[in-house]
Amino acid sequence: MKLGVPQQRTDGETRAPLTPQAVKKIVGLGAEVVVEAGLGRGAGMADAAYADAGATVVDDPNAIWSDSDIVVTLESPYPGNANRLKEGAVLMGMLAPLANGDLVATLRDRGVTSFSMEFLPRISRAQSMDVLSSQANLGGYKAVLMAADACPKMFPMMITAAGTLAPAKVFVIGAGVAGLQAIATAKRLGAVVEAFDVRAVTKEQVQSLGARFVELPGAAQDDKATGGYAKEQTEEERQQQAELMAKHVIGADIVIATAAVFGKAPPLLIPADVSERMSAGSVVVDMAASAEHGRGNCEATRPGDTYVTDEGVTLIGTLNFPALLPASASQVYANNMHAFLKEIVAEGELKLDLEDEVQKGAAITHGGKIVNELVKQTVESQ
Ligand code: NAI
Repeated sequence: MKLGVPQQRTDGETRAPLTPQAVKKIVGLGAEVVVEAGLGRGAGMADAAYADAGATVVDDPNAIWSDSDIVVTLESPYPGNANRLKEGAVLMGMLAPLANGDLVATLRDRGVTSFSMEFLPRISRAQSMDVLSSQANLGGYKAVLMAADACPKMFPMMITAAGTLAPAKVFVIGAGVAGLQAIATAKRLGAVVEAFDVRAVTKEQVQSLGARFVELPGAAQDDKATGGYAKEQTEEERQQQAELMAKHVIGADIVIATAAVFGKAPPLLIPADVSERMSAGSVVVDMAASAEHGRGNCEATRPGDTYVTDEGVTLIGTLNFPALLPASASQVYANNMHAFLKEIVAEGELKLDLEDEVQKGAAITHGGKIVNELVKQTVESQ
């Protein structure tokens, strides 16, 4: 069984879907691993290290696409490449199927079994494969370092002979995986941190990291009702939250905005008139920035760009935070891939079980059909 890994071609992508360490483990599952030359260059991993781990390194990506039984990727591939896949081949990665209808249609028509790892169920058994968590965790850390770098103030309080420096005030919006790591990182740097999330269960998690939880009466959502994800708010809830947000955003030196609703546009939580009222020198890192929606949680964010507003506020709209930590991000992503491959490969044979909760959750196309309902509805309505 041949498992192929082409180089990633998205602008700014530095990560590799497999590391040499992961290749070694996958060879141990009985697979013949073929990687494209230069695969790990962006993350400091040489072709020779992949070869030493047991992979064949080739120059021609087309051969990888057309000859592999399994292709492991990180990004959503061009439909042109997906069009080369064999019937019955497996494609796995972060395929972003809701935004890539053409790709999904190609995979369906070619009879490819595709697994999009963002769709894995958020259950204990799938934690070791959870790419959203492994990448968001690193992103939350990096976002705080970037904010600290852009901020004209120090994070920790300092009492010196030359006077006392007050600690920086950090407000984290959304206490999921990225938000909790942002809180922990900002605390370690000595900032005073407060955070808000619509999911009630996050209050204890925020407090356990030593941050203050901002209460919004009536906003608390029950996780059990929503499968762990936040649900979209009503207009009234949105209005209530907007007023509370404005107060805390304006009072902060740094805002780390991470609020997301799976499969939807990021909630708009910082309208332009609020970011305009922030103090000069303050920083917003908008981790929800989305090129597709032209903004993030903050209306004035320019996705993919960082700029200083007329009021002196730095708005950071970086789109791919994990790519700024390519070695760590590749390592954990590759471990996620290995954990999933252990579910579908045994003794060098593909062993698919689309009734299994984990495989079923991540499956997008199989046997000439779109098997994920949400993706099916989205693609077929386009
Ligand atoms: P996410 O990236 O989808 O969203 C980030 C955060 O934004 C979430 O905490 C969400 O509640 C919050 N949010 C959404 N709308 C908001 C609003 N209007 N105002 C403020 N905050 C808002 O979330 P992530 O990090 O992917 O986590 C989603 C869930 O999955 C969480 O319950 C997390 O604990 C759970 N999880 C479970 C795992 C497992 O059991 N395998 C692994 C990782 C996460």
